[in-house]
Parts: sequence; C-alpha cells; structure tokens
Amino acid sequence: MCAIAGNFKQDFDTTFGDNRVKIMNGGQLLSLSLDKFSGSGFKSKNEYLFGRIDMQLKLVAGNSAGTVTTLYLSSEGPTHDEIDFEFLGNLTGDPYTLHTNVFSQGKGNREQQFKLWFDPTRNFHTYSILWNSLNIIFLVDNIAIREFKNIESKGVPFPKDQSMRIYSSLWNADDWATRGGLVKTDWSKAPFRAFFRNFNANACIWSSGSSSCNGKSANALSPEDAWQTQGLDATGRKKLRWVQKNHMVYNYCSDLNRFPQGIPVECKR
Ligand SMILES: *[C@@H]1O[C@H](CO)[C@@H](O)[C@H](O)[C@H]1NC(C)=O
Repeated sequence: MCAIAGNFKQDFDTTFGDNRVKIMNGGQLLSLSLDKFSGSGFKSKNEYLFGRIDMQLKLVAGNSAGTVTTLYLSSEGPTHDEIDFEFLGNLTGDPYTLHTNVFSQGKGNREQQFKLWFDPTRNFHTYSILWNSLNIIFLVDNIAIREFKNIESKGVPFPKDQSMRIYSSLWNADDWATRGGLVKTDWSKAPFRAFFRNFNANACIWSSGSSSCNGKSANALSPEDAWQTQGLDATGRKKLRWVQKNHMVYNYCSDLNRFPQGIPVECKR
C-alpha cells in the first residue's frame, strides 16, 4: 500500500526538545520552538523508499538570525543518503537563505542555495521532495528549484538502496548560519517558533526489508502513484531554469576553487 499520511500525532515522534514540539488541531498542525536551552525536532515513524513528501512550513518570523529550520529525508549510518532543505534565518527584514544538499552513500558537498521569491515567515508555503529511482526534485510551492538526476551509469551514486525517514528540526546554529557566524542569535526574542501543517507522504513504506510499492509496473500506476516515474516536463524545466537563473545564490557546481581536480560528474552538461 502506498500511504497518504497526514497526521502529526500518528506519523511522527519527537526526537529532541520534549514539549517544545507541540501538536495542535488534532494532529493537523505542529510547532517547533527554540530557546536558550534547547531546540526541538521530530521524525517520521515510517521509513520510506521513494516517495513524494509535501510539507507546509511557516518559518520563524522577525529576527531569526542564527536559527536553522530543517526538513529532510535521511537514512542512518556512515554511508547514509540524505536530501536536505535547510532554512537559514536572518535579521528582521533580511531574506532567509534556503540551503539544499544531496548526500549519496555518505558523500554530500552538493550545496545549492536560494533566496525565495516571497517572505516565508508571513504565510505557509509548500516544500516538497520528489524522490524516485530516476531523479530527486526539490520543489517550492510546486515549482522545481533543483533536480538531481540518477546518473549511476556515469559512476555517480544515487540514493536508491536505503530507506529514509522524514526529519525536521529547529535549532541554534549561530556559529555558522548567518554570514558565517558573524550574526548571533538574539535570545531576548526567544522562544523562536516555526509551524508545520498539511504533511503528505505519497510514498512507499519500507518495512521488514521490503517496499510496499514493489511489483507495480509503470502503466498500472494510479494517478496518485504518478510520482514514481515523474520527472520534469517542459514547463517544469522552464520554471527550474527561471529559479536557477534568478534565485540561486550559491551553486557548488560553479565553485571551481573547491574542485581543483575538476567539477563533479553530475555538474557536467
Ligand atoms: C541575510 O541578509 C543579508 C543581506 O541581505 C544577505 O547577504 C544574507 O545572504 C542573508 N542570509 C543569511 C543566511 O545570512
């Protein structure tokens, strides 16, 4: 069964921060908070092997400098896979940085950063990860901002053998997050709070060594299973190019100083 989940009470556990994780409206709304003593976080009870994960977030408002809110998929262990959204806070009126990364078999170093085209603290916006055997697509309000293709044929490991959980957290990273650690968290504004709602997992649940979506052929897929073979169509690709041209502020693929041996294979066109 490919589950569509949607209840914070049923689908998640607190990872740290105790009662700083608050579930409201019968499981429809969750908030994380951060104070001087601790941040907070949660993770999914289920492990997934491929899926489309959607979550709506409203980020810490006002002076959020030094805080980091995360939403990511991760497996465990030294050769883990990971697909990251990290929202780096900023001073009041200054824009958040959306930091993304992809780890496969323990190796990351694939950062791309974006400035959003809206204020992510005013309203809820939808952040999604589409993860199938062909590609990983990061979406903001259904607009692709980043694509990581499966090019294992060219020797680039792709996350496809390890099941992952969904994680989220709000924590203090004022040693690096805002202008390399220059701007510190203003604890007089604590507790800082971020809000989560409308969680949706159109995903294959992994349990006791097998995936619940195995064995379905592509043409037997129902509309809600379409993510399993989805990539970007022409419109999606056009929007991706718009975001990458106008809103990307850092791309590891262009950071040649980091790769004296030559740019990573997945960066080559
Ligand atoms: C904070 O705002 C400044 C000024 O606009 C910007 O240079 C910086 O990239 C922003 N983000 C972070 C995380 O510091």
